[in-house]
Amino acid sequence: MTVGIIGLGAMGLGIAQVYAQAGHAVIATDANADARDGALARMRQAMEPRVAKGAMKAEARDEVLARMTVASGLEGLATADLVIEAVVERLEVKRAVFAALQPLLHDGAVLASNTSSLSISSIAGGLSHPEWLLGLHFFNPAPAMRLVELIPHAGTDPGAVERARALTQSAGKTVIQCADRPGFIVNRCARPFYGEALALLEEGRTAGEIDAALCAAEYRIGPFGLIDLIGADINLAATEGLSAAMGGHPRYHVFAALRAQVARGDLGRKTGQGFVFPAGQVPAPADSPAIVQRVEATLVNEAAWLLAEGGCTAEDIDTALQLGLNFPRGPIAILAQRGTDVVRGTLAALETAAPPHLKGRYLPAPGMNR
Ligand code: NAI
Repeated sequence: MTVGIIGLGAMGLGIAQVYAQAGHAVIATDANADARDGALARMRQAMEPRVAKGAMKAEARDEVLARMTVASGLEGLATADLVIEAVVERLEVKRAVFAALQPLLHDGAVLASNTSSLSISSIAGGLSHPEWLLGLHFFNPAPAMRLVELIPHAGTDPGAVERARALTQSAGKTVIQCADRPGFIVNRCARPFYGEALALLEEGRTAGEIDAALCAAEYRIGPFGLIDLIGADINLAATEGLSAAMGGHPRYHVFAALRAQVARGDLGRKTGQGFVFPAGQVPAPADSPAIVQRVEATLVNEAAWLLAEGGCTAEDIDTALQLGLNFPRGPIAILAQRGTDVVRGTLAALETAAPPHLKGRYLPAPGMNR
């Protein structure tokens, strides 16, 4: 099979590597000549640590690079069976790319967008054959992260879904299908991890102790450590996007503490100062279990709301959060472990204590009423 990639930034290059490593021919392009010219060298560099460690043979690296061709424009992708775009996150740019591309491809070639926040149906909207388009949402860094969310829109051809799934599974990925809804599974169900931590921060707890509480409960990284890693600006944009898409519901409240962090320019690792970066870990506070119970209750509730809306299974949600965010356990497993009564009790206490702007944030999802 031949896979086409459009956009050779962080994501496109990583996705190209994924399919080339799986033995597929990859043809990639970018609007920027520097990005095209440097692509092979950057891919080689990305594989270097594994070669140095002995996890990848130098010959295997060379074979991967030999499968990758860089084309000067979209015409070069004409033979592709699946084309994934990873260009800038702007609807009109993505629509223009696919509109120019589709007439060049053979019938039945699958088009995929790596968008994190745009609706797949809106991207497909302007095409003469929207049925061949779907979402394939990779996580960063694509070669290392096992999860890929597969998002058909209402009119996607089932054959396109199966082709994209088979090709991506053959590249060693765990493919989880989800509905074409804001944030898909991971970016939506992750919101309370950050949001409830920010609520606690605004109530006077420190970012360090909140992170320490969650790390003591087997989370590899706390919410503030994760914001520092991703960038507070990126996190704010994702939160604002979801909040707008969800009509400003308080479950997606954009906390003032996050806005202030971005306004100060303390974006995290990339600026040298974040919520907890560069300070080291602090000891977990005595009430860590209560902090974890609170954050996890809201994670469970968000997952239960998504489940009630349909389009994915409980197992899908748990797998997606474990693979997409490295969570030690998924929200549905947490619900089974703690019991519905305990989670409902935690949510009820939070709802009672919620300030006016957060009223409604903790109302239990329909599935939690049992
Ligand atoms: P990036 O900014 O690193 O790369 C984008 C590339 O697309 C650039 O090389 C640019 O020259 C090229 N480009 C822009 N317009 C183009 C056009 N019309 N035709 C061809 N090439 C064009 O961006 P990044 O981070 O790789 O993100 C790409 C997409 O993946 C976005 O939609 C983003 O939302 C999504 N995404 C990003 C993740 C991340 O962690 N960075 C994770 C998952 C999805």
